[in-house]
Amino acid sequence: MPHSVLIIDDEETIRKSLSYLFAGKGFSVSAGATISDGLKLAWTTRPDLVVLDNRLPDGNGLQALEMIKTEHPDTMVIMLTGYANLSDAVQAIRKGAYDYLTKPVDIDALEIAVERALETQRLKKENLVLKMRQVCADTGIVGSSREIHKILLIIEMLAENPDTTVIITGESGTGKELAARTIHGLSARKDKPFLDINCASLSEHLLESELFGREKGAYTDAKETKRGLLEVADGGTVFLDEIAELSMNLQPKLLRVIETKTFRRVGGTRDIKVDIRIMAATNKDLSNPENRKNFREDLYYRLCVMPVHMPPLRTRENDVLELAKHFLSQGTAIKKNIIEISKDCESYLLAYRWPGNIRELRNVIERAAILSPGPTINPEHLPRELLEKKEQQWQNEQQNYPSAPCSLDEAEKNHIRKTMDFSYGNQSLAARLLGISRSTLISKLKKYALL
Ligand SMILES: Nc1ncnc2c1ncn2[C@@H]1O[C@H](COP(=O)(O)OP(=O)(O)OP(=O)(O)O)[C@@H](O)[C@H]1O
Ligand SMILES: [Mg+2]
Repeated sequence: MPHSVLIIDDEETIRKSLSYLFAGKGFSVSAGATISDGLKLAWTTRPDLVVLDNRLPDGNGLQALEMIKTEHPDTMVIMLTGYANLSDAVQAIRKGAYDYLTKPVDIDALEIAVERALETQRLKKENLVLKMRQVCADTGIVGSSREIHKILLIIEMLAENPDTTVIITGESGTGKELAARTIHGLSARKDKPFLDINCASLSEHLLESELFGREKGAYTDAKETKRGLLEVADGGTVFLDEIAELSMNLQPKLLRVIETKTFRRVGGTRDIKVDIRIMAATNKDLSNPENRKNFREDLYYRLCVMPVHMPPLRTRENDVLELAKHFLSQGTAIKKNIIEISKDCESYLLAYRWPGNIRELRNVIERAAILSPGPTINPEHLPRELLEKKEQQWQNEQQNYPSAPCSLDEAEKNHIRKTMDFSYGNQSLAARLLGISRSTLISKLKKYALL
């Protein structure tokens, strides 16, 4: 892919000459004369590099620089300034510009700056990929979709901030607990306990005494003083699963723990101080006020300082097969030497909606490994709901598109439309099922006005 550059300068001669220079070097070039044009172009072209003038009709280049770096942190910016504005140049570097050049622009100096900027950018990207691979290897989190990369970045950041309260949301089986354990395992708290408790599985009183502990004689059968999870986990992390089910009575007590790191045992009068991080998880969408009628606003906002949302598997198109192969390298499959998934089988896995997400995928693969007599997993080893959905859909679609004689183009159009419907509009999946590249699919979608 050619590099892309955006030139933002109000002098037409500079725009023209730089455009000419970059186009000659194979860049794809866009140019704007004002900050507002420049920002719009930055949005649409997502350039690798911006050459930015310092004085523009609608404002200062430094402001534009800040906006560009906020929206597109990976974009490299080279500022152009007059001699009289060298202090601006220093400011520009502080605000994230890669380099600055004085006007009139020395073309050789510009070429060198551009080369270095792109090299730095390339190294940064490479480092990020390597780092992500390492984090994946360290954490056991499998996946290379954009969605999972974003999650890994957040996980790393939260690991570096071991006191921040975290709430992890997402459908069932999307890896919320795995994410919580990973954050803990990568953090400075890693040698201290990670204790989890499910807020939905215990009665209010039991949960209270499990969490906070109780003093001897707190109630009739409390013969001994018992320390709660919050105390036992001192120095570590307490993970509260299904936090949306926490009773109204316990919510203010939890809020107090988060805010002051102190609490009292049941029946106790003494404040106990602990050093813990609280993490919580829920598969309810608490951002919808309807779903948090039984949840205190103050606790909700306190928990939401750093929300992490685990995306459903169906939106992580590249991860399904990678995860399936990962699960094949474990458990029964490895014992039975099962090494591959047939192409047919792959298309069923890709087309399924995975309501139970990664847990369901793991179970499907384990079950298939048990059923498969040979080294390959075939469609007959998959559960009926995976196969039925697909077949039913094909049948419905067959009825919608009776196969009356038609031109080849017409047949192609119908087939592409069916496959797109079948793939829920997911172009990568449709392209894979059709056995063509995504770009070919897009050009065909355009040709048949199906976009
Ligand atoms: N990215 C991943 N790579 C490998 N395994 C994963 C990944 N995400 C989840 N898993 C596995 O999937 C299973 C379900 O994950 P987990 O228990 O963390 O989900 P959850 O969101 O907490 O589910 P629930 O809402 O049902 O509690 C676990 O066995 C976990 O190890
Ligand atoms: Mg869980």
